[in-house]
Amino acid sequence: MCGIVGIISSKEVTGRILNSLKKLEYRGYDSAGIATLVEGNINEVKCEGRVEVLEKDITKFNLKGDIGIGHVRWATHGKPSKINAHPHSSEHVSVVHNGIIENSTILKKFLEKKGYEFKSQTDTEVIAHLVTEYLKKNSIKDTIIKVLKRLHGSFALGIIFKGQSNLMVGAKRGSPLAVGYGPNENYIGSDSYALKSMTNKISYLDDGEFCIIKKDQIEFFGTEGTKINKKVMNLSKDAIDYDKGDYKYFMEKEIDEQPSTITACINEYIDKHNKQINIYNFPWKISSIESVMLIGCGTAFHSCLMAKYWMEQNTNLDVSVDIASEFRYRKVKFKKNCLYIVVSQSGETADTHAALDLCKRNKMKTCAVVNVIESSIARDADLVLPIYCGQEVGVASTKAFIGQMLVLYILSTKISFDQKCISRKEYQAKVDNLLKLSNAAKKTLKLDQKIFNVGKTFADAKGSMFLGRGYSFPIALEGALKLKELAYVHAEGYPAGEMKHGPLALIEEGMPVVVLAPRDEHYKKTISNMQEVIARGAKVLLITNNNKDEVISENIWEKIEVDQLDDELIPFLMTIPLQKLAFYSALEKGYDIDKPRNLAKSVTVE
Ligand code: AGP
Repeated sequence: MCGIVGIISSKEVTGRILNSLKKLEYRGYDSAGIATLVEGNINEVKCEGRVEVLEKDITKFNLKGDIGIGHVRWATHGKPSKINAHPHSSEHVSVVHNGIIENSTILKKFLEKKGYEFKSQTDTEVIAHLVTEYLKKNSIKDTIIKVLKRLHGSFALGIIFKGQSNLMVGAKRGSPLAVGYGPNENYIGSDSYALKSMTNKISYLDDGEFCIIKKDQIEFFGTEGTKINKKVMNLSKDAIDYDKGDYKYFMEKEIDEQPSTITACINEYIDKHNKQINIYNFPWKISSIESVMLIGCGTAFHSCLMAKYWMEQNTNLDVSVDIASEFRYRKVKFKKNCLYIVVSQSGETADTHAALDLCKRNKMKTCAVVNVIESSIARDADLVLPIYCGQEVGVASTKAFIGQMLVLYILSTKISFDQKCISRKEYQAKVDNLLKLSNAAKKTLKLDQKIFNVGKTFADAKGSMFLGRGYSFPIALEGALKLKELAYVHAEGYPAGEMKHGPLALIEEGMPVVVLAPRDEHYKKTISNMQEVIARGAKVLLITNNNKDEVISENIWEKIEVDQLDDELIPFLMTIPLQKLAFYSALEKGYDIDKPRNLAKSVTVE
């Protein structure tokens, strides 16, 4: 989950590489660097910390050049430091890398025996010296072929060569790499977002492929050096420069955008006039699908779990879910009438992509619910269901989670009706309720002050629990994840009914506990579970939906009531206060909301 970029041009490139690195910072931000060729010599500037630190160093060093590569790092081998920052250079080449070289230790020993001295603790540095070694007796093209065969693991590479001012090399296996076409200049980048300000014409390398890029020509090659052609895609014309507008943080903006992203998604899938769901490109007879396996990581996994509850409730499907990093290693009993759905905001998560590859290798029906439609996962799945929530920059996923759940609920409802599990009347009622969701979300966003007030308590807590049953349980997991990743507070999402089987021992005086208890079939039992934790000293933040019928016990620390909607849709509304809770807790602690420590937006390493 690092970000790489390269430009070869007839004009100065350093400033544009810096700009692209700023757009890639969501992929990793513990260190950064740039290398350029000046009169054929490699010049590199690297730093620990953010791109803004690099920018100052670049100015001080006055780095120039019309060919260069840049990198933002999320440390995998070797701690975040200037010496471990990329690019890694030998006397003859400079390399930027996203991925993990699994045989780097063996290669390092091989190269040290040949007299190469290593400066860093990274796996990447072996690539620079290995290329240098092979260049002694091979052309650049043959060097790349031989070196890639020696590398085990994943890589997206950008390489420049001393004395070769007219070319740079890109190569890909496992980590994404885009190639961009410009006017008398060309580019490489980890994703299209890094290149959008320079071009909207993009090709993507596939695993094992490499390219030799000149400013007026790009040649693509397969593993053995056979020349290949690559499709040129025109990038989607969404906002090229999505920015924070009046907000201080992307995450805050993305939470507030949710009513409009809900509307945008619904407009894509629901015919409001006929009140019906359209999934136009569904390539299979829906009646032929007997089971579903939903796979994702982190927040995306939580949307999978939410979909399991909806699909079990409304269809005859046998529904399973799994975390991608577990699924990909299982001895899966694949079923031909099962639909394998991978969920991924970025569409680049390595474990999720590997899970998809496993399904495809077994010739299964695959569907990807993604936000980035040009992503690797989107390109590889049989069916792509975009969530249409626009660029999500905040590392903590918010509007994308709502979008993932929304698409999965729409799919569940479509299958349910087409498989005659619900009547037309029930189907239309569900569609009608979906059309109310955006306004309900807008109202929920206004429940700000109460959440702001409790944010400090959660920020200072030693630990916290998030409890829910049924539809509320996946949301409890998501709320806990948000608090963990933003405020760095240990938080655990748990089935409310499970507390008495052990975790109740964790409850102590003053511990903040979130209880999700909408007035559904689980309400009374969850309130009983709530009393059990209050009786042991917990400070309970109760999130429920407004209803005049019930009076809830008075000894609650704080209560939030979201709008009254159909039970199935309450999870969308309960999510919003939990996103805000994590946001205010992190704000209270002064943490970097958009780029939490140790994390990255797109986890392209395993
Ligand atoms: C979400 O808040 C997290 N940052 C993380 O769990 C994320 O959901 C996970 O890495 C999966 O990412 P994806 O949706 O891009 O595949």
